[in-house]
Amino acid sequence: MTRLLGVIAVTVLSLGCGSQPAPPVATSAPFTPAPHANLAQMMRGIPFTFSNIVFDAQSEDPGQPRLPAEVGGGATATFKNVYGGWQAVENSGLALAEAATLAMLPGRFCENGKPVPVQDATYRQAAEGLAAAGRAAYKAAQSRSLDAMVEVSDTVATACANCHEPYRDFDDAKDRCTARDGVAPAE
Ligand code: HEC
Repeated sequence: MTRLLGVIAVTVLSLGCGSQPAPPVATSAPFTPAPHANLAQMMRGIPFTFSNIVFDAQSEDPGQPRLPAEVGGGATATFKNVYGGWQAVENSGLALAEAATLAMLPGRFCENGKPVPVQDATYRQAAEGLAAAGRAAYKAAQSRSLDAMVEVSDTVATACANCHEPYRDFDDAKDRCTARDGVAPAE
């Protein structure tokens, strides 16, 4: 009872001073994953960047010693050899697999304002295909074989095309993100 009175007294006091009561401090609010980019921006930032690292490993041996980092080349040059070489290729495969989850995150929009069609069976399958291709690239990089990288690069490129054909490759950008006619509709 004493405590309750204390709370009331403080409330009255603060209102009396004309100030707003302080907002409650969020100590245990759960983090809700939410998109920060439209789909095209996410694609340019993650699948584009990391698929190119996978593709490069077909012809440029990631196991070759790198030139010493250029002085003054910025953080990218300075840390080129940290998590570099084949490990960078492994991690790029995993980044592609993780990007499949980002592609499926609800609440994201395409550049043209349409919601990302995460409910479409075709879209979901294509996202799963990207996850599988990313994992395959991870395994191929672990094998340290350029031949394996040639093969898996085809798998990765096909995974991209399997989604771009139905959802991206339209002459008019406003047609993107809705399945092309003849493609399995939403479930
Ligand atoms: C599950 C579907 C899906 C997969 C898989 C996918 N994409 Fe995309 N991507 C899209 C869609 C849809 C767009 C158009 C997004 C928009 O307009 O906002 C897009 C757009 C892009 C863009 C931007 C194009 C522009 O207009 O600037 C790039 C780059 C891209 N994707 C690269 C890739 C790469 C590389 C891969 C494979 C490693 C890949 N994507 C896999 C669905 C996918």
